[in-house]
Amino acid sequence: MTHSVAVVLIALAILLLIYAVIIAYLILIKVKQKKEVTLNQNDYLIVFASQSGQAENLARQTTQQLQDVGQTVTVTDIQYLTVEQLRQADKVLWFVSTYGEGDAPDTARMAIKNIFSEPAVDLSHQSYAILALGDKRYFNFCQFGQLLNQYLQQHQAQALFEMVCVDHLKQADVNLWTQRLEQLTQQQLTAVEPAQNWHCFILKNRLCLNKGSQGNPIYQIQLSYAEELTWSSGDILQVQCGNRLEDIQAFLQAQQQTVDDDLLAALQFKNLRQFPEQLPNEFFEDWIQRFDKLAIREYSIASIPEQGIIELVVRQEKTATGLGLGSGWLTEHAVLGQTIIANIRSNSAFHLKPIHKPLILIGNGTGIAGLVAHLSQRQQWGDQQNWLIFGERQQQFDHLYKDQIQEWQAQGLLPDVDYAFSRDQAEKLYVQHILQQKSEQLLHWIEAGAAIYVCGSLKDMAQEVEQNLLNILGAEQLEQLRIEGRYQRDVY
Ligand SMILES: Cc1cc2nc3c(=O)[nH]c(=O)nc-3n(C[C@H](O)[C@H](O)[C@H](O)COP(=O)(O)OP(=O)(O)OC[C@H]3O[C@@H](n4cnc5c(N)ncnc54)[C@H](O)[C@@H]3O)c2cc1C
Ligand SMILES: Cc1cc2nc3c(=O)[nH]c(=O)nc-3n(C[C@H](O)[C@H](O)[C@H](O)COP(=O)(O)O)c2cc1C
Repeated sequence: MTHSVAVVLIALAILLLIYAVIIAYLILIKVKQKKEVTLNQNDYLIVFASQSGQAENLARQTTQQLQDVGQTVTVTDIQYLTVEQLRQADKVLWFVSTYGEGDAPDTARMAIKNIFSEPAVDLSHQSYAILALGDKRYFNFCQFGQLLNQYLQQHQAQALFEMVCVDHLKQADVNLWTQRLEQLTQQQLTAVEPAQNWHCFILKNRLCLNKGSQGNPIYQIQLSYAEELTWSSGDILQVQCGNRLEDIQAFLQAQQQTVDDDLLAALQFKNLRQFPEQLPNEFFEDWIQRFDKLAIREYSIASIPEQGIIELVVRQEKTATGLGLGSGWLTEHAVLGQTIIANIRSNSAFHLKPIHKPLILIGNGTGIAGLVAHLSQRQQWGDQQNWLIFGERQQQFDHLYKDQIQEWQAQGLLPDVDYAFSRDQAEKLYVQHILQQKSEQLLHWIEAGAAIYVCGSLKDMAQEVEQNLLNILGAEQLEQLRIEGRYQRDVY
């Protein structure tokens, strides 16, 4: 070996050594970083799977509750959960809702594909509890919660306590969850509430928007308020349902009570159909205090704060026993000037992003509410590239927000509007057919960075729209849009 070859070899060896040292150092840092995010044995991992924000809201309140009593908690949306994170955790609290027809929320898609289909996950070291949100009016009550429970048990995780199912945001069900956590932590916890900030609104205006329609009447409801309130387009109003005056009077008469203003006020929002038995010697006033409140119903807000009014678009539901609880309260039972108790719920999954890209708005029926709120917001931001695709039955009777839409068209805010009035021609025409007909335009808009927002009925519209989007864009691109927050839905 010549001297120069030896020198080159030594230099190479030194370089290799330096490289090895750098790599070892980087690995060490990574291990250290990993250690820093490792959950300790007593830490809680909270995971939520939420479609319209309620499970997320309860998950965040529970996080606060536990942190207030000194517990260490990490909270994550299920769409960001990794197998490693799940494997690592010793105590997991799940907050999951059920959507569609017994389905998981959209945000759980990736977890179902990548985590729950993984057979070799050993969770025998892990304990867990599930708060499952659902609604008993659906056939598959809390089905996603049930399936998750089965999965965890199959993978040897141990339940801290039995799954708690919440029927349509019932406070009593949520209280049971808090009680179970109190037993678990041996600490007194603050209350967790589905709706937190109740405000008093005044029912200012009520206008039927579809007189002569073959469908149920749809009303524009306007609520005024005296406090400083703010919200984002896409948010939801949670309304405390109330009783008709005649029903309270009939109840008081049946109980042989004199009707007076105090009793009328005390019973305004109480459930008069199901109540606890009166105890011996219990005063009437004390007894009615113990009645449950009526349910909460949710409505998409159709206005933005700059308009200074909360506007809703409510379809009157007819049931076997009269009008629907929430829609009946807003469209008929509450009188003009009446106080409406409600809470504004942030619906981050349907918020707009101020990124000045084109926007495609698709909806039907009362779904117009969420769409017009977004258009008002886009007008505020000066974003003119908007395409509205809206469906109803007949143009003559069901052309909701016709004047407003025409005004926006004249102002250049809506360069593209397509209507699908299903009953105006022999062949049925729905919004999904418009998408099909205009697939070239859709691809062009998506290429230009457009986002798609869908609002209205899940079964009659949103599922078909999704199928057509899949056909036009393909599963991969639609999933990518979802991940980027460019495919958002407020469907019910
Ligand atoms: C995120 C979101 C946004 C929404 N936005 C709007 C909107 O902008 N506009 C709008 O009009 N609606 C909207 N809705 C729907 C709304 O919240 C109500 O579901 C709707 O008004 C019907 O409620 P109701 O109380 O009037 O009728 P309900 O009293 O709930 O009755 C509805 C139906 O359920 C049946 N039913 C009632 N109780 C039971 C029971 N215990 N078991 C079996 N069946 C039962 C009734 O017979 C009836 O057919 C939205 C829903 C969600 C989740
Ligand atoms: C379109 C739609 C479909 C639903 N399907 C079901 C269902 O199949 N089973 C059930 O128990 N609850 C069902 N629900 C009720 C929701 O689970 C319930 O409203 C829950 O509180 C929503 O929580 P989230 O906002 O976290 O998604 C459905 C609700 C909507 C709006």
